[in-house]
Amino acid sequence: MRRVITKRELRAALVSSKGKRRVLVPTMGALHAGHAELLRRARDLAGEDGYVVVSIFLNPVQFDNASDLDTYPQHREDDAQLCEDCGTDVLFTPTAQEMYCPDRSMVVEETQLSQTLCGAKRPGHFAGVCLVVAKLFNMVQPTDAVFGKKDFQQLAILRRMVRDLDYPITLHGVPTVRESNGLAISSRNERLSPEQRTLAPGLYAALQQGAASYAAGQSVRETLAEVEKLVQAIPGTRIDYVEMVHAGTLQPLGAEVRQEKPALLAAAVWFGDVRLIDHVEIL
Ligand code: PAF
Repeated sequence: MRRVITKRELRAALVSSKGKRRVLVPTMGALHAGHAELLRRARDLAGEDGYVVVSIFLNPVQFDNASDLDTYPQHREDDAQLCEDCGTDVLFTPTAQEMYCPDRSMVVEETQLSQTLCGAKRPGHFAGVCLVVAKLFNMVQPTDAVFGKKDFQQLAILRRMVRDLDYPITLHGVPTVRESNGLAISSRNERLSPEQRTLAPGLYAALQQGAASYAAGQSVRETLAEVEKLVQAIPGTRIDYVEMVHAGTLQPLGAEVRQEKPALLAAAVWFGDVRLIDHVEIL
């Protein structure tokens, strides 16, 4: 595996992969079992002949909350080892100075799918994600890119970006990896206290319960109320949002709607100062 930091080194590392399948896995580091799945999928897609490029960049532009950025876990050497173990060819770890000019003035903003769910709660977040991913696409020029489905809205927005800006790149979504108790694996789980870690699986359990009730004919209003009640019963939590949207447009479903599909029941919940997101798709 080649480790590169500058754009110039990255270009040099990619020369011999010209014309071959080049699969990009963009990450912010603190890699875990969920990322390992992305890396393995990338290796499968690239095959023996192709190239897997992993980027680790804690993108300051997508953080709407300074303390979330400051406390975001980082494990550079463990991350590099995991990349190596999963068959990565090039690991790109640029600095913020390398990525952004101090007077950068371009934005890449999606204006529909980003208006609900996390987009409504984290102003500027998805514009920051689109900007960095667009830059990585331009630098790496991959044929394919792999993202986790855990960030359902992010993946939908990036698919829209690829479509609307004509990137010749195929995006692949990898299913959420969960602990045996149902908790979606996330870099932020590391910041949960041992007690919060035992309570956090309750979020997915509440969403599953709500999804089952909706599928059985309950209205959106009743479903949201049911999920909110279950989440509020978990000690030390604060709901950021619980919403039901159409899984394609990400627009909210009307309160009295029943059984409209495909639907997405999604939530963001604070466990102390750690914000966890999760969702269930109802197909
Ligand atoms: O999902 C993430 O880890 C980040 O949002 C991404 C796609 C790497 C962009 O910084």
